[in-house]
Amino acid sequence: MAEPIRVVVTGAAGQIAYSLIYQLAKGDVFGPNQPLYLHLLDIPPMMGVLEGVVMEITDCALPLVKGVVPTADLSVAFKDADAAFMVGSMPRKQGMERKDLLSANVKIFKEQGQALDKYAKKNVKVLVVGNPANTNALMCSKYAPSIPRENFSAMTRLDHNRAQASLAQKLGVGVDKVRNVIIWGNHSSTQFPDASHATVELNGTSKSVVEAINDNAFLQDEFVKTVQTRGAAVIAARKMSSAMSAAKAAGDHMRDLWFGTAPGHFVSMAVISDGSYSVPKDIMFSFPVTIKPGGSYTIVQGLKIDDFSRKMLDITAKELLEERNDALELCSD
Ligand code: NAI
Repeated sequence: MAEPIRVVVTGAAGQIAYSLIYQLAKGDVFGPNQPLYLHLLDIPPMMGVLEGVVMEITDCALPLVKGVVPTADLSVAFKDADAAFMVGSMPRKQGMERKDLLSANVKIFKEQGQALDKYAKKNVKVLVVGNPANTNALMCSKYAPSIPRENFSAMTRLDHNRAQASLAQKLGVGVDKVRNVIIWGNHSSTQFPDASHATVELNGTSKSVVEAINDNAFLQDEFVKTVQTRGAAVIAARKMSSAMSAAKAAGDHMRDLWFGTAPGHFVSMAVISDGSYSVPKDIMFSFPVTIKPGGSYTIVQGLKIDDFSRKMLDITAKELLEERNDALELCSD
């Protein structure tokens, strides 16, 4: 058996964590031979609830779990961390403006970035899920300067999975037959779900999704809107936000960072822009990426961007630039 790793989950008493922790503990993310310590961070008023979560982890009787560390102390939570799922954040309350939400959350991620910098391993992989995820991840990385920027990413994998599943449904095939959809930009309603480079396996041969669907109006309108507003549709139906699917996506994202992507497949992940596809540098922008085992990723290059896609990329980049500027201002005090 390998040496145990230390995996942090923040917001550990919340609903996404409740699904995520079980996946981690049974080996779905880091593999069936990787023992781990679970470091579970939440805020002081949630320590009672967290105690219940710890009881349940114990009662699952899972052999990979070598220990559980429930805490509200950042220095304990991030100590020697190998991987961190940054889920905890303040939810939007009634009457809150977008900027108020940004203000509350970027400050949490500034503080947690500083703690990662101080206490985590320098090769820690940090996945930000808590919203506004892209900009939170950017601030987290900014305040953890001793950890490579490439080790920080934000989650658009839920949107990616939604897009893949939606195309599979439209084509009447299994979800595993569709690959290489892309989510560009922000994990918000300005994201651009893009099917133009996706392929589908039909009767054993690979075909472009655009050709197979043969309905550009659907791909540029209904498909885009369905994926952009899927989170709201889940809330309307469930009266609570997506948690099972968000936790599954977080596991998918981290597993790909750990083990790499399959040959010929790319996935969507928000990473710090290097200017690829004329996206402004230094915003946390979702791109198509391929990943080598161990987490080094490459932004897929050379994809053709038509006029429609250019417009969509520019809209979401503009929003991220505004968020970044607001966040920098809010964190400067
Ligand atoms: P939740 O409200 O059930 O749980 C959030 C937990 O975070 C709570 O237990 C809360 O006490 C904790 N928390 C708040 N401030 C904290 C802090 N400073 N340090 C540690 N923990 C803290 O929310 P849920 O459903 O688990 O969602 C968590 C976040 O994930 C939200 O921001 C949500 O918007 C976001 N989200 C992101 C998705 C994505 O695709 N990137 C998809 C779905 C949700």
